[in-house]
Amino acid sequence: MGAHTPRSKTEITGGTHVARQHDSAHKHVTGSADYIDDMPEPAGTLHAYLGLTDRAHARITALDLDAVRAAEGVVAVLTGADVPGVNDISPTGRDDEPVLATDTVLFHGQPVFAVIAETRDLARRAAKRAVISYEDLPHITDVRAAIEANYPLVTDPLKLERGDIAAGLSAAPRRLQGEMRIGGQDHFYLEGHIAMAIPGEDDEVTVWSSTQHPSEVQHMVAHALGTVSNAVTVQIRRMGGGFGGKETQANQFAAIAAIAAKKLNRAVKIRPDRDDDMIITGKRHDFVVDYDVGFDDSGKIHALDATFAARCGFSSDLSGAVTDRALFHADNCYYFEDVRLTSKPMMTNTVSNTAFRGFGGPQGMLGGERVIEEVAYALGRDPLEIRKANFYGGPGRDLTPYHQTVEDNIIERVVDELETSSDYQARRAEIIDFNENSPVIRRGIALTPVKFGISFTATWFNQAGALVHVYQDGSIHLNHGGTEMGQGLNTKVAQVLADEFQVDLDTIRITATTTGKVPNTSATAASSGTDLNGMAVANAAQQIKTRLVAFAAEKFNIPEDQVEFEPNHVRVGNELMPFGDFIKLAYQERVQLSAAGFYKTPDIHWDRAAGKGRPFYYFAYGAAVSEVSIDTLTGEYQVDRVDVLHDTGRSLNPALDIGQIEGAFVQGMGWLTTEELWWDDKGRLRTHAPSTYKIPLASDRPKIFNVKLADWAENREPTVRRSKAVGEPPFMLPISVLEALGMAVASIADYKVSPRLDAPATPERVLMAVERLKAMADEQPAENSES
Ligand code: MTE
Ligand code: HPA
Ligand code: MOS
Repeated sequence: MGAHTPRSKTEITGGTHVARQHDSAHKHVTGSADYIDDMPEPAGTLHAYLGLTDRAHARITALDLDAVRAAEGVVAVLTGADVPGVNDISPTGRDDEPVLATDTVLFHGQPVFAVIAETRDLARRAAKRAVISYEDLPHITDVRAAIEANYPLVTDPLKLERGDIAAGLSAAPRRLQGEMRIGGQDHFYLEGHIAMAIPGEDDEVTVWSSTQHPSEVQHMVAHALGTVSNAVTVQIRRMGGGFGGKETQANQFAAIAAIAAKKLNRAVKIRPDRDDDMIITGKRHDFVVDYDVGFDDSGKIHALDATFAARCGFSSDLSGAVTDRALFHADNCYYFEDVRLTSKPMMTNTVSNTAFRGFGGPQGMLGGERVIEEVAYALGRDPLEIRKANFYGGPGRDLTPYHQTVEDNIIERVVDELETSSDYQARRAEIIDFNENSPVIRRGIALTPVKFGISFTATWFNQAGALVHVYQDGSIHLNHGGTEMGQGLNTKVAQVLADEFQVDLDTIRITATTTGKVPNTSATAASSGTDLNGMAVANAAQQIKTRLVAFAAEKFNIPEDQVEFEPNHVRVGNELMPFGDFIKLAYQERVQLSAAGFYKTPDIHWDRAAGKGRPFYYFAYGAAVSEVSIDTLTGEYQVDRVDVLHDTGRSLNPALDIGQIEGAFVQGMGWLTTEELWWDDKGRLRTHAPSTYKIPLASDRPKIFNVKLADWAENREPTVRRSKAVGEPPFMLPISVLEALGMAVASIADYKVSPRLDAPATPERVLMAVERLKAMADEQPAENSES
């Protein structure tokens, strides 16, 4: 045992609460990070391509694939009849989502067959040669039309209710009603969907899948193959973005690759092109929100009755949980005395919508914030004043519509600090002055808060596992059930592990996620990746440490509390050993240096039928002030300045957390401003490429962008190192951008008319709103839609 001078604790290059670069950052920017399409293909790999229907709703009367089969390079053509197990990949077991459609097609672009060929190009060309005959059926793509036609719901609706809504509405001194339309969004991950299946012996298959949910892909592949889960191994090192779009949507590609690989006994890879990826895979749900609100002259909201109808597409997918989460966020930071919130998950003949960052929360919250805005314009007040008048408070004002008490509320402090640091009041006054004297350019500013519930609302998903090996040389192998999609999960989890063992970060090797090492995992979703997997990894490390401490105490005949993990060393009594030397010794003494860790979130429960429980372990908070200017002649606009104050508890890694906030903000801005999905009357998605679908460009980012963490905030729950989840909550901060655009529009009619900007507020929509207000200002004294 050598005597070494210990380095101070802060000297390890790992550890938590410090800014560390993403473990793969240098590989992302140099193009050396390996994605599935970069992997060496096994000899003889075949390529699959999907054949899509060109009808929105029709019965297939004849499917003639002879020309496809005869095409150059084609090895096989698969239809639904070739699925050896069950032709279904519904994540909720509803049997409403075929791998390949058989008798009936339910949306324009639904896959009907798959071509397997020697090259991807040949497969793609061959797929165009199918001749399919149909008997067309009536189709509906729009949510309102679906409601009017009494189209079915894809799943059970939810109702959240507290108090007496009828009495509350009729007793309120003032009341108004309205409708808001909220658009959907394509995920636009840089790496599209892809899967590569490699057949093994007997019924075995290994699938590399770009998925946020390897365990579900494993189960779905087994289901479709007609085998059991232990025959299927699913692996993923990283995704080039997921954003919820790979929570369930990878199932189809993985299933097809696996079915073809087993049938032909050759490796099969499938990668749709961008257009097909956008046409075939689900997106953010668009919503129509109907609200009826009772309030008083002080701006206090007494009663809110709102319905959230969503375009779910042809199957249920995750629409139940998504529309539930919309209801869970309609209150945002506000207490409503009497409240009733209802979801309407509408079936439509469109692609089946799915998870997308915020998972319905953004749509719910935006509906709620629209109500605040309406009340503010009705009363001629700054919406910020209405917000403050309705914030959750102490006992009597702390119960959510789902009967969970808000115990960790810090929104007032967050908003106060941001209001001051952003100089909100002075800037708002200056903007109002400016607008009075500016005929063409108008400006707007808004401060909006966020409260986002953390936990899967399906309580059983809140569990995670990890596998940690310490090798004889002291190097550490880290594996957990989460998936890396750019968010920095692996870095954060490695920091937790480094902190446990007090070793440098580069002592730890991060390995691909595989169902063979950690079973029964949940999707990396609901922002819970670090909360769940970080704790599971800490648990694994603690098991190994407990064994090491017991071993050292016995070996050196000292009390256990004299064995300590210090930076890259272990202190044993008065002696300090390099970590690697200590591990070598432990190995020689036959200490088990590997452990499987586990974690489940405590204290959560949810009774959906009753609409009551504590679905969320805690809330993450934040607020943003956005300032915009619009051109009232063209509707064009820019975001001039954004200030954000966001709560990540005791941040595990401030650099990654700020990156998540900036990225989420810009992505949320895209959702609320430029990203518009458009289906034509044939049910065709016409915005299926970057030429017609506009995500934010670097030049669209806020000209001034100040993002700060609320560094005083600490999670009151014992989460991993008292941190909070960050992936989704900041996505809702740019609601401030939409409201600022609304203010700029409202300046046309002296802020007396609610601008009622629907999302996305594209330049066209801003221009139409400007024209509407101009016409109203010309015609008659401004009027609200108050009843
Ligand atoms: N950040 C990047 N760079 N890429 C992504 O795909 N997905 C978001 C968010 N941040 C995403 C991202 C979504 S939808 C979620 S739920 C979380 O990351 C998931 O990861 P986490 O739970 O580890 O935060
Ligand atoms: N969030 C994200 N993904 C999910 C959820 C959720 O609440 N439930 C099921 N999948
Ligand atoms: Mo995120 S929408 O929960 O994958």
